[in-house]
Amino acid sequence: MKIKIFKVEQWMNDYENDAIYNLGETCIDSMTLGELIELSGQNPEAYLTALKDKRMTYGHIHGSPELLKGIASLYKDILPSQVIPTHGAIGANHQVIISMIEPKDNMVSVMPTYQQHYSIPESIGAEVRILQLTPENNFLLDLELLRSLVDKNTKMITINNPNNPTGSWIPTDVMMEIAEIAKSVNAYILSDEVYRGISEDGSYMESIADIYEKGISVGSMSKIFSLAGLRMGWIVSKDEDVINACLLRRDYDTISCGQLDDLFASLALSNKEKIFDRNKKILLKNRKILDRWVNETPEVSYVKPVAGTTALVYYKNDIPSYELCIKLIKEKGVLFTPGSCFEMEGCVRIGYAFDSKTLKDGLDKFTELLREI
Ligand SMILES: Cc1ncc(COP(=O)(O)O)c(C=O)c1O
Repeated sequence: MKIKIFKVEQWMNDYENDAIYNLGETCIDSMTLGELIELSGQNPEAYLTALKDKRMTYGHIHGSPELLKGIASLYKDILPSQVIPTHGAIGANHQVIISMIEPKDNMVSVMPTYQQHYSIPESIGAEVRILQLTPENNFLLDLELLRSLVDKNTKMITINNPNNPTGSWIPTDVMMEIAEIAKSVNAYILSDEVYRGISEDGSYMESIADIYEKGISVGSMSKIFSLAGLRMGWIVSKDEDVINACLLRRDYDTISCGQLDDLFASLALSNKEKIFDRNKKILLKNRKILDRWVNETPEVSYVKPVAGTTALVYYKNDIPSYELCIKLIKEKGVLFTPGSCFEMEGCVRIGYAFDSKTLKDGLDKFTELLREI
């Protein structure tokens, strides 16, 4: 099974360690274990000392009851038995696609998105039909185009909501229309929802798993929980065939998730409101800083992100995005991600959920470079 290079991951592997201003990062300012334990109202020293007596067995093969309950609580109407813990969202997306897609199927994937969604099905031999998101349409799905792309062999429509890299969020009424289109051809919808949970106005963000009976939601502790080091993600679906197919595969590629990952993820989930409060402040403050910079910098433009942790920023200079990002990291120490990692040109992805000073300084360095070339 041949598979293409995962462009965004390759880019990060190559350059992340060289960054002085890391605006390639997509997690909200990662927490320490001490911060997590303290935030949960416990004493970090006592908590960590007690851990030394933990016997490192495989633990609960399908996830501890606390973890499954915690994940289910992120949805409106999901039972613990409808949750599968995975090795990050990356493990979840992989497990869903590899378990459900066959060479005879076709799939519709939005672009830009996380490359797993089109390169894994392609590697299986399935036909992938790309639905391009455009700034003119605020990076939302064109429903007529989606209708024209599906047929009776469409097994799955895959979306990323909130979207990485654009920061768009599909409103509930549009999500319901997407579900109607999927239903008309009996297709699944895989919705990568790793950035779901913190909305700008505090309103609840719906999940495809609650809206559509053949909806599959993928989530993770990495982004909005600031705990990527746990490598804990999940698949959630009300569809029994999906749960059974993924569990079957999971015996071959996971057995169980780490006991410590399970423990700390459960702790975070039972304190989710406190983590969301911490992270919402960071997101809203930094989104403002980014917006002010875009408005004051005539060399760039964007569709203002409304969710997630990233924005796709267009620049006016005539230089390929990869070349620009190489210059930026080498000459100014600023790490962005080239649009070309998302098959887009004339733009870069900026991760703005790290600390505000790094963001401001990194943006200023980028302006400097744009004016020099
Ligand atoms: C849209 C999307 N899905 C999945 C992942 C993988 O996340 P995790 O760290 O949970 O494996 C990422 C990471 O950047 C992502 O942006």
